[in-house]
Amino acid sequence: MHAEQNELITRIGPGTPCGALLRSYWQPVALLDEFDPRLDPKMAHRQVKAVRLLGESLVLFRDGRGRFGLLDRACPHRGADLEFGRCEEEGLRCPFHGWKFAADGTCLETPAEPLGSTLHQRIRQRSYPVIERAGVLFTWLGAEGSTPPALPALDCFLAPPSHSFAFKGLWHCNWLQAFEVGIDPAHPSFLHRYLDDGSLTDDEAYGRQFRAASVGDVEGERWPMTRVMREFHRPEIRFESVADGVLRLTALRPMTERLTHVRVTHALFPATFVIPLSEKITITQMHVPVDDTHTFWYSFFTGFAEPLDQEAMRAQRLACVTLPDYVPIHGRHDDWRFDPAEQRARTYLGMGEDDINLHDQWAVESMGAIQDRTREHLGTSDKVIMANRRTLLKAIETVRGGGRPPMALDAGAAAALTGPDTIDCIAPAERWSEFWSEQAAAKRAGATWLGAARRDESAARIGAAE
Ligand code: FES
Ligand SMILES: [Fe+2]
Repeated sequence: MHAEQNELITRIGPGTPCGALLRSYWQPVALLDEFDPRLDPKMAHRQVKAVRLLGESLVLFRDGRGRFGLLDRACPHRGADLEFGRCEEEGLRCPFHGWKFAADGTCLETPAEPLGSTLHQRIRQRSYPVIERAGVLFTWLGAEGSTPPALPALDCFLAPPSHSFAFKGLWHCNWLQAFEVGIDPAHPSFLHRYLDDGSLTDDEAYGRQFRAASVGDVEGERWPMTRVMREFHRPEIRFESVADGVLRLTALRPMTERLTHVRVTHALFPATFVIPLSEKITITQMHVPVDDTHTFWYSFFTGFAEPLDQEAMRAQRLACVTLPDYVPIHGRHDDWRFDPAEQRARTYLGMGEDDINLHDQWAVESMGAIQDRTREHLGTSDKVIMANRRTLLKAIETVRGGGRPPMALDAGAAAALTGPDTIDCIAPAERWSEFWSEQAAAKRAGATWLGAARRDESAARIGAAE
């Protein structure tokens, strides 16, 4: 890849072509948890938080009536920092001269001006819409006056709070390399390899990736995903477009004459993947640029059977970050807690067994803040990454030309984009394709919250094998 092309697909600030593309989509801007005083005691006093998104400095707040607002951070009067604003019933007030702004950016008061002044009527702070889905606040930084797209009817957005859990973490790297790990079906066999599988019934394994069993069995024996990944490390990777901007990734690992391991995941343009966590829980992960060299991943966990144990999942993950900014405890400063003795005896990487995110974090951060793609050498196992880059380059051109990129959906298309199914299973070799769709359908049938119509509809659209 040429250096100019690498610049084009990685730089996302205001005025950049890729920034314009990413401003076509709703983006996660905070967890609802970030406004919970139990997690951030400052929130007991005032619900205001400075945020960075796509290289822009913003302030997110909840006014006294419970409405969320997202505004440009610098006060339009003389530029003081609204992060330190007074949070009031109807809006956020700048402490410098008392100008007050509603969640929609309307200037309500300019109290230092002479009585009868109409200055406030001519002032407006740039504001961005905020919506909440599955415990995450989303915003849209598209051009003022244009209409935001609709959010697709993904399972993670349809599940009720009892079956949803969301978490996030910061990575010190560019958004694209963060996303490219998730659409790389070859890496789990190496990066996440454990030399010992642990127990399948161990409570500690709850909510942890690759510790659960693949669906199906090998002559009556359940196999943990880790064992399959370790013993069969050369996947045949296939991908197909199942809707505009939606790639289905199939990684096949032939195990015996009769059995094939099948892992089906999806990539949703521009930066979301959907993968199985376990037989009944999926992860939808979005990658959101903070700026060119920092990225938040947001994971949505969706339960298809029992309600999720959010407290347990949150506690496990909070142990790996510092609040209020969700910065990982380990990182470049401590060599991502690398332990050569562990690398020799217990894991392929040597960065612990509990927090799989740390493995991915090392992979994406150790490349450097923005991966120099002029120096890489891609192989056959990188075919999805190549396909995604082609789509990305094309979408940037589409937006440059005034067109609508993939996944910037209108209401009809958004309602039709459901699922997508994802599974990790051990299938009969001769009918793996039918087998995984049957297993996915069975999982969907167990999700009472989907409703019968939705379960069938989804399978008909992008859930089932062709
Ligand atoms: S700078 Fe904000 S009110 Fe004056
Ligand atoms: Fe990974």
